[in-house]
Amino acid sequence: MNKRAIITSALPYANGEIHLGHVASTYLPADVTTRFLKQNGVEAYYVCASDDFGTPILIQSEKEGKTPADYVAHWNKRDYDDFTAFGINFDYFYKTSSSENIEFVQDVFKKLNDAGHIYQKEIIQFYCNNDKKFLPDRYVKGICPHCKAEDQYSDLCESCGRVPEEITDPKCSLCGQTPTKEKTNHYFFKLKNFGDSLSEWLEETTTLQKDVKKYVQNWIKSGLIDWDITRDIPWGVPVPLDGADGKVFYGWFDNHLAYISTALKFLNDKGIDGKEFWNSADIYHFIGKDIVYHHYLFLPAMRLGINKEFKLPTYIPTRGHLTLQGKKISKSRNWYIGLKQFLQYYPADYLRFYLVSINPYSQDDLNFDWDDFTTRINSELIGNLGNFVNRALGFTKKSFDGKIPETEPFDEKDSEAEQKIKSLATDVSTLMEQNHLDRALKKIMEVSSFFNQYFQHKEPWKNGPGTTNCVYLSVNAVRSFAIAIFPFMPESAQKIWVQLGLDGNVADVLWSSQSELSISSGHTLGDASPLFARIEKSDIEKYKKELGPSE
Ligand code: MF3
Ligand code: ZN
Repeated sequence: MNKRAIITSALPYANGEIHLGHVASTYLPADVTTRFLKQNGVEAYYVCASDDFGTPILIQSEKEGKTPADYVAHWNKRDYDDFTAFGINFDYFYKTSSSENIEFVQDVFKKLNDAGHIYQKEIIQFYCNNDKKFLPDRYVKGICPHCKAEDQYSDLCESCGRVPEEITDPKCSLCGQTPTKEKTNHYFFKLKNFGDSLSEWLEETTTLQKDVKKYVQNWIKSGLIDWDITRDIPWGVPVPLDGADGKVFYGWFDNHLAYISTALKFLNDKGIDGKEFWNSADIYHFIGKDIVYHHYLFLPAMRLGINKEFKLPTYIPTRGHLTLQGKKISKSRNWYIGLKQFLQYYPADYLRFYLVSINPYSQDDLNFDWDDFTTRINSELIGNLGNFVNRALGFTKKSFDGKIPETEPFDEKDSEAEQKIKSLATDVSTLMEQNHLDRALKKIMEVSSFFNQYFQHKEPWKNGPGTTNCVYLSVNAVRSFAIAIFPFMPESAQKIWVQLGLDGNVADVLWSSQSELSISSGHTLGDASPLFARIEKSDIEKYKKELGPSE
């Protein structure tokens, strides 16, 4: 394992609240992975930032009568607060509109330009004579030429998912008038030049997801097109060239560079040589499948274009989209659960447990379902793990006054139980290292289920021979589970730790230590209290009714 890592997740647009869809595919898997790496003694840093630029944000701030800077500052703070409440533990959360990022982006652009990867071209753009501005991307609405859906933006049809190159019946999205077409100069990045080197990089980077690689390779084979990287709007990173007044970079040119500029800012402030660290670390970029093109092509091409001055990604874990009760999430149709709202109903760990459980390391979509959530929490989390922890600790309290007794020679069942503890760290970490977070969690639950059976089989309440072994092994298993579940459910892990009567933070205990039986005879447990509360069906019915149009 590399002893250094930088972890990022797709930067949230500073344009609305974080909802369950965001956290499922990106922030939660990244957070779980970072916690796991830290437990393994890796110097790992999870950095993120709000994605502040772009036309949708400019338009929305105008609508709300705010400056774009004030508008994004609001969402930057709100997002950070919501993430924190969910246990997403960024080492640093910054913004793409930071002075550090602006400088960094301009510097990268100059280097790309000097290396001959940039050219200027006159293009035709929509222009609104009423608003007196060019109308890129979301400023134009019309009919999608592919699927004929009405009221679609010129940069993306939400109905068929394609980019309508020539939208039909275009209208200015601000005033509704038909725009004219005007000439303007834009800068282009020669993505075409990078076909071979990208293909090579994909081939040799064996840590990347195989199925994603395959179709990205197909895109390369079918031919890349150069990339328009500037816009004529007043909100963005200014293009640092004479004669480029009033032009800014397209948001997708600058946003992913904030992975680097944010890491550098954080590391340098800490007194670490940021660039040296970046280049010797494993680099993880967690994303959802909608932004594969940007992360497997634009991002690496730009790093290649500046001669790999900053290491290319080691991992780009890519996951599918979350649907809600089987339907696509949509804010406007109120088919949507905000993260903040959810956390008013249930503890963060319930959602973390559920979302990891249903989220494979693949691009398959996953579905949030209230009934499935209830079952998984009540029967798996509480019925299995919570039950075992309560039984083991509760019984020790009641029958041994909370003090671990002396053991006797182990019988076969005891030895099997001991073996389960000893192999837990390796069994789970093998899956974690392959990014199979869902399977790793499942593995822990399987071992917990084994211990429930073991406890049942031993019938310690009868106080027959072997009772003390059962107590000793069960309490040690509880300790192992606390360490193993920490990446997934950090709050519950710490609660268990305290109930075990152990000092300090479970976060600071090495991962491998879950395979030790380090609670010895004579140790006294802390106070026990139920870890989890069952989910009530009647509440769930209420929450279901909150979805969809209100009558
Ligand atoms: N804000 C973008 C989105 O939500 C993601 C940006 S990821 C970045 O789709 F790295 F490119 F910044
Ligand atoms: Zn207009």
